[in-house]
Amino acid sequence: MSKKILIEGGRALSGIIPISGAKNSCLTLMPLCILSGQSLVLQNVPYLSDVETMKDLLESLGCDVFFKKSKREIVLKLNRENLFEANYEIVRKMRASILVLGPLLAKYGQAIVALPGGCAIGTRPVNLHLQALEALGASFSIDNGYIKGLVQGKLKGARIEFPFKSVGATANVIMAAVLAKGSTEIFNAAQEPEIIDLCNCLLKMGCKIEGAGANKIVIEGVDNLGEVCHKVIMDRIELGTYILAGAISYSNIKLTGGELAPLKSFVEKLSNMGIELEEDMGLISVKRNCEKIRPVNIETQPYPGFPTDLQAQIMALLSIAEGESTIEENIFENRFMHVPELNRMGANIKTQGRKAIIRGVAELKGVPVVATDLRASVSLVLAGLVAKGETLIDEIHHLDRGYEHLVLKLNECGAKIGRV
Ligand code: UD1
Repeated sequence: MSKKILIEGGRALSGIIPISGAKNSCLTLMPLCILSGQSLVLQNVPYLSDVETMKDLLESLGCDVFFKKSKREIVLKLNRENLFEANYEIVRKMRASILVLGPLLAKYGQAIVALPGGCAIGTRPVNLHLQALEALGASFSIDNGYIKGLVQGKLKGARIEFPFKSVGATANVIMAAVLAKGSTEIFNAAQEPEIIDLCNCLLKMGCKIEGAGANKIVIEGVDNLGEVCHKVIMDRIELGTYILAGAISYSNIKLTGGELAPLKSFVEKLSNMGIELEEDMGLISVKRNCEKIRPVNIETQPYPGFPTDLQAQIMALLSIAEGESTIEENIFENRFMHVPELNRMGANIKTQGRKAIIRGVAELKGVPVVATDLRASVSLVLAGLVAKGETLIDEIHHLDRGYEHLVLKLNECGAKIGRV
């Protein structure tokens, strides 16, 4: 794939954009094929490089994986047992690879998974994953950059209380606990829709889980899991991103295949900024009521708070608001990599630790910029849609990790955007 995207700004968009299945849900659901050993069919699967990476990882762990792209369906089944080493060459491409740890330990009583390491948005340790799995009876050593996990006998249900919420650690411990002996209670569990989706799929496979989406989840272990066909939920982050595309370009676009309910805190902020959303018969319309966007103060929080995965995108919109806004990033310590790039486009944003102060400017200008991570890169696309002149975004492989057919979707609504 080409490495750069060129956008000619200033065009109004009009049309309907389909919202794809959720990347984060899909990546969490795919490793379930290790746990069950039975056929796992996932529908509404987005065509993304992260999904391909998870496919490669699962294939290296003995799974057959068929991705029927035209049907947006992926069929997975464990074929060769007792392969339990997740290689660094694959893990380094995607941190979500750590999600095979719980399933491998539950299935084989052992796992070797490369340490994912840091990434552009922070150090992102895995201590919470390991502590929770230790509570279930696993023991770990770190050897040559690899996590080596071992279980004597079978995992045993336990009481786990997370010191703070982690989506990945909650998912990992749920996947391990469903095959553990006895009952597991998880306190301070992540409440994201993707966790609910994981639990719904596991329930269909025969698991006993109560409290998905609540702070406390209770799981009663079972001996084995059945086959399942499950439709992945919509990608709320992709939906929020295209809502912002409509708002920033002062356009009349509609979104199909999404729903606003899981974006409550985001929708509230948009309303304060002067952007109203309507949901009718499965179509979401974006209406910007005012010439100038009103400034707001935002703090990212675990679900149901304002999502960190929409922080960079809303900053692009706030950079052309009338007045001063602030954004406090409470989830990741280094998630302002887009700030210098937005400033290169004429924005006036200063950071102080975890806080960004955004003074709205009259217009953004198209310049060459560099994408640094998935959400940062799409914030530059949003800025490019409204900037005067041409924006050339480099390192856009980040975008292919998480936005299905982004160029096509925006082009079909009249944006002038292409890969070069
Ligand atoms: C998931 C999402 C990601 C999203 C993030 C927060 C997937 C594949 N990715 O990432 O898009 O931005 O949730 O909504 O679903 N932490 C620790 N120790 C741990 C685990 C996490 O200190 O063992 C910290 C992280 O560094 C971070 C915070 O906890 O500061 C929350 O991270 P977490 O919810 O675990 O994010 P991920 O599951 O990695």
